[in-house]
Amino acid sequence: MTHIDTHVIQKPKILEDKLVILHDYTLSKYLIDIVDSLKQDKAILINDVSFKDANKLMLELAKIFNLQDSLELNSNFSSTLEYRQKVGKYFMTVNKRKDYQFVAPHSEGSSKLGIQLAAFYSVDNTTDGGETVLFKTNHSSDCIKGLKENLAKGKILKKLSSADLTKIKILSRLSFPEDALTDGDEVLSEKEYKEGFVYCETLVKTRAVKSVILNKEVYPYFDSIERIDSDSPQEYLTFLKNVSLFKEPESDFDFSLIDDSHHNRIGSFGSKYNELFEGVLIKKLTKRQMLICNNLTWCHSVANWTPGSGVRKVVAAFA
Ligand SMILES: [Fe+2]
Repeated sequence: MTHIDTHVIQKPKILEDKLVILHDYTLSKYLIDIVDSLKQDKAILINDVSFKDANKLMLELAKIFNLQDSLELNSNFSSTLEYRQKVGKYFMTVNKRKDYQFVAPHSEGSSKLGIQLAAFYSVDNTTDGGETVLFKTNHSSDCIKGLKENLAKGKILKKLSSADLTKIKILSRLSFPEDALTDGDEVLSEKEYKEGFVYCETLVKTRAVKSVILNKEVYPYFDSIERIDSDSPQEYLTFLKNVSLFKEPESDFDFSLIDDSHHNRIGSFGSKYNELFEGVLIKKLTKRQMLICNNLTWCHSVANWTPGSGVRKVVAAFA
């Protein structure tokens, strides 16, 4: 992380008009307003909401946008992951952060998962940093179209029985024909799972995904795009410094670890934040605050904090 700069947001635009703040929350009073705000592609910050009500709200929103299955699936799936735990009915812990680590902006998941809605609930946050920064993706940017997405694909080499195909689908979590390797996909690694079937890690062209909230196609900057690009943490570090949110580590700190996704980066793909994003919303979530946004049009990120400066427990829900 020594080279910095060429493509950075020098003065990020703060999109205050894209944030709706609600006080004295009750579900019956605000559900319609929240739905309307999401349809206008705004983010919603709710003050002083109980965790029980946050869960109820997620369910009601999921019902309205027909995302109930996705909400259940994402929360249940989190309990099978080593790095996440289910909290309450629909929320999950976020990745554990090592000292001084930040999380660069991404829309959760991949184009295959197509997660539509994201919410963050602050159980407590007393650190000297840990601000949540939402970045609004610029869908007309050529930059997003030039990036690559890391997806798993499969190659079926011979005719397989339907029992074998079912086994393969369960083992590989792939579906066919959607996840079959196609011309133009770049194979990073392959592994023969079973005779006649090869599992591939690939790089594919980024693609548009339908937003059910906005009823239109958008180009999200998914985790599967962001996490592999070594340009992204450089851009994020510069951004954090520009807005004075960066907490400088001690002099003996190993800087290569500052990026939460450092182990996933495989090359320089060209993420340029001043082209990818229209602007930002910066919020330090405090106890009992909840932030909701369209996962496909907003990216979420987290600034670092000084180790030992406090407790940060923020949980997330996706549908
Ligand atoms: Fe995330």
